[in-house]
Amino acid sequence: ADILVLNGPNLNMLGTREPHIYGHMTLDEIETASRKKADSLGLSLDWFQSNSESALITRLQQASQNRRAIIINAAAYTHTSYAVRDALALFDGPKVEVHLSKNFNRESFRQISTISPICDGTIVGFGFHSYLLGIQAIESLLNPES
Ligand code: DQA
Repeated sequence: ADILVLNGPNLNMLGTREPHIYGHMTLDEIETASRKKADSLGLSLDWFQSNSESALITRLQQASQNRRAIIINAAAYTHTSYAVRDALALFDGPKVEVHLSKNFNRESFRQISTISPICDGTIVGFGFHSYLLGIQAIESLLNPES
């Protein structure tokens, strides 16, 4: 696959998890919409979710061997994990951070991201469209002339 899409803790609960904040779509539905978007751009996705910091780090370490780009919604690890940040920093290709909700008008602990400084850009607050915009952003980073 071209793009590793990593999803962190509690994103497997989307659909029923605080829908007024995160929307009503399940992660499976977001995956389906994302694959359709990627297909339309001639890109393929390796879609992964884990509640475990360790599993996310292992995927990030492996990405250098066979992925061209990374999209990451690190969920709460965004705000807490230097280990996820360091694993993401191992990857040389395009990296885009996405969030469903707009972190900046929520609790103050959500206003810090350990990974924003090492990503090419961040897409925040567009619900599941943040993922689709993230795929579009990766396409433009991979093919800057088109
Ligand atoms: C989130 C925002 C995080 O603050 C939160 O911990 C999540 C989801 C989002 O996509 O809006 O789990 O990453």
